[in-house]
Amino acid sequence: MSRKVFKRILVTSALPYANGPIHIGHLAGAYLPADLYCRYQRLKGRDVVYVCGSDEFGVAIVVRALSEETEPQAIIDQYHPMIRDSFAAFGMSFDHYGRTSGHVHKETSQDFFRRLAQHHHFVLKTDKQLYDPQAGVFLADRFVKGTCPKCGYDEAYGDQCERCGTSLSPAEIVNPRSTLTDAVPVLRSTTHWYLPLGEWQNRLEEYVAAHPEWKPNVLGQIGAWFSDGLRDRAITRDVPWGVPIPPEVAQDAGVSGSGKVIYVWFDAPIGYISATREWAERQGDPDRWELYWKDQASKLIHFIGKDNIVFHTLMFPAMLMAHGAFVLPENVPANEFLTIEGKKLSTSRGWAVWLHEYLEEFPPDLLRYALASTLPESKDADFSWKEFQLRVNSELADILGNFVNRALAFAASEFGNVVPHLKNPDVQDLDVLRQLETFPARIGESYERFRFREAVAMTMDLARMGNKYFNDRQPWNTRKSNRQACANTVYVSLQICAALSVLIDPVLPFTAARLRSMLRLEGIRSSMPGEGAEVSVGWDEAGAQILCDGVELGKRVILFSKVEDDRIKAQITRLSAGDAKPYAKPKDRIDYSTFAQLDLRMGTVLTAERVRKSKKLVRLEVDLGYTRRQILAGVAEHFAPSELVGRRVVAVANLAPRKMMGLESQGMLLMAEDREGHLSIVTAEGENGSVVR
Ligand code: MF3
Ligand code: ZN
Repeated sequence: MSRKVFKRILVTSALPYANGPIHIGHLAGAYLPADLYCRYQRLKGRDVVYVCGSDEFGVAIVVRALSEETEPQAIIDQYHPMIRDSFAAFGMSFDHYGRTSGHVHKETSQDFFRRLAQHHHFVLKTDKQLYDPQAGVFLADRFVKGTCPKCGYDEAYGDQCERCGTSLSPAEIVNPRSTLTDAVPVLRSTTHWYLPLGEWQNRLEEYVAAHPEWKPNVLGQIGAWFSDGLRDRAITRDVPWGVPIPPEVAQDAGVSGSGKVIYVWFDAPIGYISATREWAERQGDPDRWELYWKDQASKLIHFIGKDNIVFHTLMFPAMLMAHGAFVLPENVPANEFLTIEGKKLSTSRGWAVWLHEYLEEFPPDLLRYALASTLPESKDADFSWKEFQLRVNSELADILGNFVNRALAFAASEFGNVVPHLKNPDVQDLDVLRQLETFPARIGESYERFRFREAVAMTMDLARMGNKYFNDRQPWNTRKSNRQACANTVYVSLQICAALSVLIDPVLPFTAARLRSMLRLEGIRSSMPGEGAEVSVGWDEAGAQILCDGVELGKRVILFSKVEDDRIKAQITRLSAGDAKPYAKPKDRIDYSTFAQLDLRMGTVLTAERVRKSKKLVRLEVDLGYTRRQILAGVAEHFAPSELVGRRVVAVANLAPRKMMGLESQGMLLMAEDREGHLSIVTAEGENGSVVR
């Protein structure tokens, strides 16, 4: 396979939805690998631009806003800065981090849409969808609620029944209601734009066939889509939050475009282009983005998680083909998923490690290293706190930190903190120096091939080699018996340290900087954006004895301190504390008059006995002051009848009587049910018959 020569590289990470903070699942999928790759490429001296930004449109944002009873704008204004800042603290080296709610993106995505419409790349289709006449909006799947056709559960959502798990479409729901207004939806026809992906299948198959080097997990998914046959995809929505479709496109089609927006999966990848434009503008060279998107010598790489594969390998390339002016993705190195302590990550259940919380406890490099060593590159991988501790203590501290510390300590105590001269090196010294020279190319090959775990392991092998060499040479003996041999050992060890300060930089950028300042190693190319591509010493030179002899070293600091058991235990406890069941869904809003219809009264339980042949029911006699009631309560699994006698309770006194197991229940007791399903009795002081309100 011949390798194309590229002049520049444009790297993207999936734009995260601005509807929640970043967790380590995000990092392991689309962010850390891309950052490793970009930092490596910058150290190579390559022209690389790395863009990302917040994905701020789509139903995900609207849903979050509804659940927090606020507006979508407030949601994105809360999470965009939070995401941006935690990425920065983690060392994500974006050249630009944008957001899709900005004006550049509106213009870019509308231009894109307009061009495809003008060149007749879309088809229009009209069909009937559920509509809320009261709110005046079409009901996207989870805006519909009703009875499940499978199990009869009457709180099923338009996309899924949460009781039986069946996935549904809104049209299947029996007695559908709008979750916005509780109105009964009507069917109303609506027109949408579709991208006929099927028409692109041949060209997409050719395009993918030209990339046998793509990762097997990516090619596997694509193959499944191809054999299913690609279908038309709706690329507009009737949702009140998104990039409006260009008014003149709607006009030309004779459709009312008002309230219609571009589907989020159409506009978001265009966000990569918008971000590159914003970057170019900030460089004071507004047209420069075109070089990265339009010149065939530019290599476009998308880092994503596996749930985004179809959009980046089929839909976005089809969009780019239809547009015509842009390069196609050269590679889409998607990762699989990360589990935590062996369990599927779940944000709603709180089973997640949040980046901003991690950063309050530990330095970024420790997590970068631990994650980079277990990236889900070809299959799902697991993050555990024990393994994190092990990686930090027995690799970072015991191998890398220990080696650096020994070499520098010896230079300080034996050679006045100056790099000694190499004179008459013996075969072992020469052999190690020769091996050192091979590391940059070997590690680099793994980075080029997106094999980051391997690259990081190989980098740590260099520190291992250093430790072994140092042990074998026993400078603590030669310091007396053979001073030059001792000097040579320290010289060679310090050169390994210097090489490490460059080669660990992609994965441990903060540590690398500290190490370089300990070595007083200056004039090294930076792995950060826009810092000195003209500097001549970088990745390729790292193995070539870059530390000058005779120069004074800096102040020695400890690079890694060990993580103790109690700090790991605290993290595991924190994780498990988050692992509670979800809270019951908030109910729809009611007005006061509805509430006021309830006649709630204080009472005292006079007698209690289990109802024969019933697992759940207890028969109670309750004194409500003005009356006595027989109430059947489904609490037998929670309380023994004797526990109930004498308890002060709150009863719903005006509930229509109901027969159960041949007995009439004349009311209901209020109970609080927690997330585990435990009941506790709602109670209050005051005389029987008091009105509760
Ligand atoms: N926001 C999407 C997600 O989190 C990813 C968008 S990637 C882009 O799944 F290409 F559309 F930007
Ligand atoms: Zn069901």
